[in-house]
Amino acid sequence: MIAKHIKNLPPSGIRQFFDLVLGMPDVISLGVGEPDFITPWRAREKAITALEEGMTTYTSNKGLFVLRKSITNFLEKRHNLEYDPEEEILITVGVSEGLDLIVRSIVERGDKVIVVSPHFVAYPALVEIVGGQVLYLKTRQEDNFKIDLKELKRLMKENPKAIIFNNPSNPTGTAYNTEELKKIWKVISSKDTLVISDEVYDELIYEGRTTSFAALDEEAKRRTILLNGFSKAYAMTGFRIGFACANKDIISAMTKIHSFAMMCAPILSQVAATEALRAQKEVAQMRSEYKRRRDFIVKELNRVGLVTPKPQGAFYCFPSIENFKISSLDFAKRLLFEEKVALVPGSAFGKEYDSYVRISYANTLDNLKEAIIRIERFLSKL
Ligand SMILES: Cc1ncc(COP(=O)(O)O)c(C=O)c1O
Repeated sequence: MIAKHIKNLPPSGIRQFFDLVLGMPDVISLGVGEPDFITPWRAREKAITALEEGMTTYTSNKGLFVLRKSITNFLEKRHNLEYDPEEEILITVGVSEGLDLIVRSIVERGDKVIVVSPHFVAYPALVEIVGGQVLYLKTRQEDNFKIDLKELKRLMKENPKAIIFNNPSNPTGTAYNTEELKKIWKVISSKDTLVISDEVYDELIYEGRTTSFAALDEEAKRRTILLNGFSKAYAMTGFRIGFACANKDIISAMTKIHSFAMMCAPILSQVAATEALRAQKEVAQMRSEYKRRRDFIVKELNRVGLVTPKPQGAFYCFPSIENFKISSLDFAKRLLFEEKVALVPGSAFGKEYDSYVRISYANTLDNLKEAIIRIERFLSKL
């Protein structure tokens, strides 16, 4: 009954693993990529009021104008980036939908797409679903998981239709500064390749600042599809609100698919997201808490023998388990069953990454402290 290309598609390594975790009591989960904070009250309150007032309808396909306008104002302030709220932005159901729409809008059967790895689980799957071919651009721990320009140049010779780039990165936490982005852009700009820039962790950056790929120069803006959303920095995963910004031809193609497949993002979530942009104080508080946790976990992981470069953003680290001569799935399963700590095997983020695991520090400092005690005890048994 099922189409062959879907049947052959491997399931998400993260979900597969978390089906195991479900129902196990007393597990400390350092697995899921989800904030442990609740959405700022002012955003929830707006949604409650809107519901009480009977806001229960569809919105325009592109999303509420007030939200589109608030986001474009925000991007102008944050990245000095100007987008027309009428034609150059689409409100999506999370960044997840934005990714699906852009891949379906631009990738034809046989087109090549560079995916920087280790990578977010959805990227290669979405490309493969539409018959595209993934070119993996591997990064290494000794380079802080940053793109090797020589390797990028080599893959660019294959004339890729697009590159999917995530900054800061899930699963490594690596973030690029403006100079590094400029060097990457110089290589990409030698061809017509489009840049799908997933910036969902843009506001979760702990040292310095990063630039949106689209803000590098006019041509970069013309060729970049900026994807971002409210799930991470605003702790709004359940609201499912993302957005895509790009030139009007691209947004119009994405909107066409969105209007047939999704119609629009939920109205109450759009109301909450509009208000969330005003919750910058709360976002700053969450960011500073993540930073405190990052500093703790990275120091402790290195102390117990899991080599971990210091990530600059997102809420993940990606330590090496190479010294323990065990696959990442066995490591994760044994740690779960023997010590009740859940993390994600590195192999979920690319088959080359079987000697790594991903740890999310979106958990309380107390839980992180207890997790380290359990991990240290587990390592002593290996
Ligand atoms: C890199 C990356 N992109 C996109 C998403 C999806 O986010 P959303 O909740 O906005 O669909 C995630 C969620 O984990 C992510 O880590």
